[in-house]
Amino acid sequence: TTVEWEAESYDMGGHDTYMHKEIVEQVEAVDRVLRGRIDDRFATVHLGGLNLDPGEARRVRRIKILGCGTSYHAGQIGAQLIEELARIPADAEPASEFRYRNPVVDPDTLYVAVSQSGETYDVLAAVQELKRKGARVLGIVNVVGSAIAREADGGTYVHAGPEVCVVSTKCFTNTVVAFALLALHLGRIRDLSVADGKRIIEGLRRLPGQIDEILKTEPEIKQLAKQYADARSMLFIGRVRGYPVAREASLKLKEVSYIHAEAYPASELKHGPLALIEPAMPTVAIVPDDDLLEKNRAALEEIKARSGRILAVAHQPQEKADHTIVVPKNEDELDPILMGIPLQLFAYHTALALGRDIDKPRNLAKSVTVE
Ligand code: G6P
Repeated sequence: TTVEWEAESYDMGGHDTYMHKEIVEQVEAVDRVLRGRIDDRFATVHLGGLNLDPGEARRVRRIKILGCGTSYHAGQIGAQLIEELARIPADAEPASEFRYRNPVVDPDTLYVAVSQSGETYDVLAAVQELKRKGARVLGIVNVVGSAIAREADGGTYVHAGPEVCVVSTKCFTNTVVAFALLALHLGRIRDLSVADGKRIIEGLRRLPGQIDEILKTEPEIKQLAKQYADARSMLFIGRVRGYPVAREASLKLKEVSYIHAEAYPASELKHGPLALIEPAMPTVAIVPDDDLLEKNRAALEEIKARSGRILAVAHQPQEKADHTIVVPKNEDELDPILMGIPLQLFAYHTALALGRDIDKPRNLAKSVTVE
């Protein structure tokens, strides 16, 4: 069975779909997850419910993040943030895969379960199995008092507010911001400097205003979506910080528009996907202005040389791209939070152009509470 949301009981606030409403709500949602948590004096953040004292936090040798669907992708960005800011080896894995491969459960590993609903069966079962084996499990969850929140030893709520659309948008963004807070907190207990702590805090504070700027480009994104809506299949590429952004954007497009989409690390293009490139197979490229910019530009050149159409999401117009959606620059580590947002709008407007049932895509459920 699946949990049926009583969509009728939530006010749409003048939007035609919950997806659109929830995309727009991200400005206030991000503001909410930050509120009351920043400690400027020590350039860190306080996460009340973590239930992990500084000594315990220092003894963590590895972090394993578990989730499904969009929450898994948020966990992939979370793992990168933890590695970058706290220098703790971290990775994310689909909860179902983890559960079925008889994982080695290590006492020095901190496990983090990620879920919007807090009820996804595969995640809950992974948490229960981990606890049975004596592991420490934190929850990064949206729904207060949900099963995963109750089972976890501690954690943090992401405060995205109710999310009704089957595909997750605002909860994804808030979950990634919650991971940035966790990474900053762990980093400042370990080796992250005061200066870097302050730099990240300032970056976090800029996010709501920058999301607002991105939302203002919606008319432009709508036009682009109409131009790409005829594609039967699309490739999404990114490198390191951009790769999980590409994965989530590709999932979003396929969920709401039913256009086949596949994400690849940009560096893997030459090991297969280049064979698919032709005018009928557009590529969406995540091109942040960081130390990998030149490498990403080279990938665009390779695609262009094979007459592929390119839509870039970047911090400055990309010469090789047919179109660029320019997003505001933040700190390098936080850029992934912003770069996915225009692609939520892109997926939404593509689905709208194709007349899809946006809030309830065929065959999908908001919350999968069975195996
Ligand atoms: C379903 C939904 C997805 C969601 C996933 C995990 O597949 O359709 O949008 O990302 O479950 O849900 P959770 O509530 O655990 O984040």
